[in-house]
Amino acid sequence: MIFREGIEKYCDEHSSLSDPLFRELEEETRAFAPKVAHMQVGTIEGRLLSLLTRLSGATRILEFGTFTGCSSLHFLKALPDNGKLTTLDIDEKAVAVARKFWSSHGWESKVESLVQDAHASVSMLIEEVDSGKRPLFDLAFIDADKSSYEDYFRASMKLVKKGGLIIVDNTLWSGDVLNPQDKAAKAIHAFNEARRTDVRVESLLLPIRDGVSLFQIL
Ligand SMILES: C[S@@+](CC[C@H](N)C(=O)[O-])C[C@H]1O[C@@H](n2cnc3c(N)ncnc32)[C@H](O)[C@@H]1O
Repeated sequence: MIFREGIEKYCDEHSSLSDPLFRELEEETRAFAPKVAHMQVGTIEGRLLSLLTRLSGATRILEFGTFTGCSSLHFLKALPDNGKLTTLDIDEKAVAVARKFWSSHGWESKVESLVQDAHASVSMLIEEVDSGKRPLFDLAFIDADKSSYEDYFRASMKLVKKGGLIIVDNTLWSGDVLNPQDKAAKAIHAFNEARRTDVRVESLLLPIRDGVSLFQIL
């Protein structure tokens, strides 16, 4: 969190009301994993994800990093009835929490949850897209292990349609990108540097929450 104290709360109070389900999910996530509950995108960024889904008219979304379901629920809220979310995570216990919320809101049929290393899932997805068994995605959201961001971006470039959107979370890494020391900060900084000259995409790094980068595939 790199805002001045109180700013996120102010933004929250001056945006459309958040669905009470997100408070419920936050509480359940804090009980399930108190030390890492902050990994959820939260309601400001979550509402941005919903808005971008609606504005882009996305119906097929690929998510890297399900965790307990916060970002997935923001996508599901915005997806039309014929929409589908494919979400990847390696942690079965966290995904079980997400699954409970998907089904209690009647969204289970809109979700394809692949629980294994995301590298294996994307290899399978790329094979299916290449062989015509699966259509391209309209939007990808990258929020799993930071050291694999470049791999996930490369895969998303193959899996998302031209004109589609790739959203990448935590691209400021608590501001540590200014002086990257640990493995994650170095990986994120290298990812950001590579995008400066990446002419395949129109890119914008927004200082929202922990940094949210938007890429439209040209
Ligand atoms: C920051 S959390 C995702 C938060 C989620 N988007 C939300 O809003 O609640 C990152 C997730 O990536 C998952 N993850 C880490 N390494 C992974 C890998 N190699 N393959 C798949 N998922 C992985 C973790 O299990 C964790 O749930």
